[in-house]
Amino acid sequence: MALRLGDIAPDFEQDSTQGRIRFHEYLGQSWGLLFSHPADFTPVCTTELGVTARLKPEFDKRDVKVLALSVDDRRSHDGWLPDIAETQGTAVNFPVLADPDRKVAALYDMIHPNADDKTTVRSVFFIGPDKKVKAIITYPASTGRNFDEILRVIDSLQLTQQHKVATPVNWRKGEDVIIVPALKDEAEIQRRFPGGVKVVKPYLRLVKDPSAKA
Ligand code: BEZ
Repeated sequence: MALRLGDIAPDFEQDSTQGRIRFHEYLGQSWGLLFSHPADFTPVCTTELGVTARLKPEFDKRDVKVLALSVDDRRSHDGWLPDIAETQGTAVNFPVLADPDRKVAALYDMIHPNADDKTTVRSVFFIGPDKKVKAIITYPASTGRNFDEILRVIDSLQLTQQHKVATPVNWRKGEDVIIVPALKDEAEIQRRFPGGVKVVKPYLRLVKDPSAKA
């Protein structure tokens, strides 16, 4: 059955471009981002891995361990990575899982047979420090992902895990956020959000991003 939000991200052991990976051990207490690519030596994937490598400091800042997957084997990955460095101007600085037996692809339901029965779609799994799946996005092979959006989702997940807030449409870190509807106690609201609340409607209450520096 497909993974759902709140499920424990399945553990696995598999080879990668940086050696054997035991997934839960690799994640440690950090957040995780596991994302799949249809195949090696493909153009869209080449650009995605280049951008992810360039954004590595942003993932590090958020304590997120990134892990890519393509169903090709390690030898193939090792042959492809220099092309990414050459064409994208940055070396791949995170592991790329080899999954020639489709073990991880099957565990995470990354192969969608009505799209293609041999290669994975572009899945992204956001995993919390508790190893639970916090968000999932899925794109077809022909649509490259927006990694600024991936960072934005991580910012929202990390904020909403710590504070009783939700993030509105197109929110970016530092912008106002919404008090969760379940929080009704006025004393608690004042204690949690001493900067004040803008009540647009009783169910739409805005506060400053509690993670933003004053
Ligand atoms: C790509 O990664 O470039 C790609 C893979 C399969 C279909 C279309 C594009």
